[in-house]
Amino acid sequence: MSYVIQKKSKIELNRLYEEDKSIHDWYRFVLSYPPHLIRSCINKFNLSPQATVLDPFCGTGTTLVEAKKLGYKSIGVEANPVVHMCASAKINWDLNIYKIKKISQHIAIVAIEEIEKNKNILNYPNEHILKLIIKDSMNFDLINQVLILLSIIEKYGDNYCDFYKTALAKHIVFSFSNLKFGPEVGVSKKKKENVNIVKTWLEQVMLMCDDLILHIKNKNISSSVILGDSRNQLSFIKNNSIDAVITSPPYPNEKDYSRATRLESVLLGFIKNKENLRDVKHNFLRSNTRNIYKGDDDFTWIEDNIDVRELADAIEKKRIELGKTSGFEKLYYKVVLLYFGGMAKHLYELRPKLKNGAQLAYVVGDQASYFRIPIKTSKLLKNIAENLGYRVVGCDVFRTRLSTITKEKLNEDILFLEYVNGRQ
Ligand SMILES: C[S@@+](CC[C@H](N)C(=O)[O-])C[C@H]1O[C@@H](n2cnc3c(N)ncnc32)[C@H](O)[C@@H]1O
Repeated sequence: MSYVIQKKSKIELNRLYEEDKSIHDWYRFVLSYPPHLIRSCINKFNLSPQATVLDPFCGTGTTLVEAKKLGYKSIGVEANPVVHMCASAKINWDLNIYKIKKISQHIAIVAIEEIEKNKNILNYPNEHILKLIIKDSMNFDLINQVLILLSIIEKYGDNYCDFYKTALAKHIVFSFSNLKFGPEVGVSKKKKENVNIVKTWLEQVMLMCDDLILHIKNKNISSSVILGDSRNQLSFIKNNSIDAVITSPPYPNEKDYSRATRLESVLLGFIKNKENLRDVKHNFLRSNTRNIYKGDDDFTWIEDNIDVRELADAIEKKRIELGKTSGFEKLYYKVVLLYFGGMAKHLYELRPKLKNGAQLAYVVGDQASYFRIPIKTSKLLKNIAENLGYRVVGCDVFRTRLSTITKEKLNEDILFLEYVNGRQ
């Protein structure tokens, strides 16, 4: 059966529907898949009310939030600390709303006073901050105001610090910064200067409280997010406990998730220096030339996979043919080997966690970022999954986009798998 919402227009498919905004919209990637996709998969899987859903690359938590709204238990894994914090805040609904509001009002009063005191002092943000963030991504004065607000959140925020910081994370990116996403992160020509940081933050906190009230009946549905690497840190999940997986891992396309989240990671203190940044990136599935490291050996997981090896060979051959010699270009073929090897490792580690008959949906996109050679991600993944004993149930097109390089249509597919214990 074809994917139910496939026939809707492209805008409809990508859109976060107005009625879905509560909680999902607290902090979200521009291209996060929409909640209605999760609903569609859950319907298709016909899960029992006791089922547990896993998202091993949970990002900002779309799967987990939607599962919880629908009354299903869920677990997520996310390797990026700031994203992990926001996803965790998005699924923690058992909070004292009265206290959150009261404390936030106090924080706002103290922050306004403190910002006022510092008004006429020309402060440059710390050197370490400027070294790590994208140049011109935010006005210095606004950075200082955010840092003042953050220090007061940390001082008075009690048990609600992550909630308050999530409210701040959203507006650092979308209201205070000069960043634009298209979908790669860049700096807009129009620079923001006069933004009322504290007011914007407080309004966001109040909106988030309203969302919690809206979903109060599901506040005790269990949901958690593990900060870790889905290629090798699934040991926190009980064996034989997962009924369904709905996820969208990174694709091999040069997108650097650490760059897209750099500003909030640095300002909120998750990345303090180059070593921190490196440690964070080290836990990511290898999907771009900026996160490849000496000693990476995930390719060993697909050494006997002819299709992936032929693809990597074709990319390297093309590079030589075109006379391309930059360090990054020399790594293109390696990204492909490490990416599919990493996914194989992940699917291998996942098996013991799955219940017999578990159903899986992997949303992945085709790519052409490496010398225009097509990378049919879902087709290659299908092959890897089959070799690991998963049954391929189907593969539906979720959406298509135009490649900026080749101007050809690239599919984003949903690969449906089933895990039958003991199947070879
Ligand atoms: C395509 S995004 C997922 C977006 C998500 N569906 C959402 O709703 O926001 C992929 C996510 O995988 C994370 N990631 C990359 N490598 C990972 C790994 N080895 N283990 C866990 N998460 C990883 C990235 O940080 C990113 O947040």
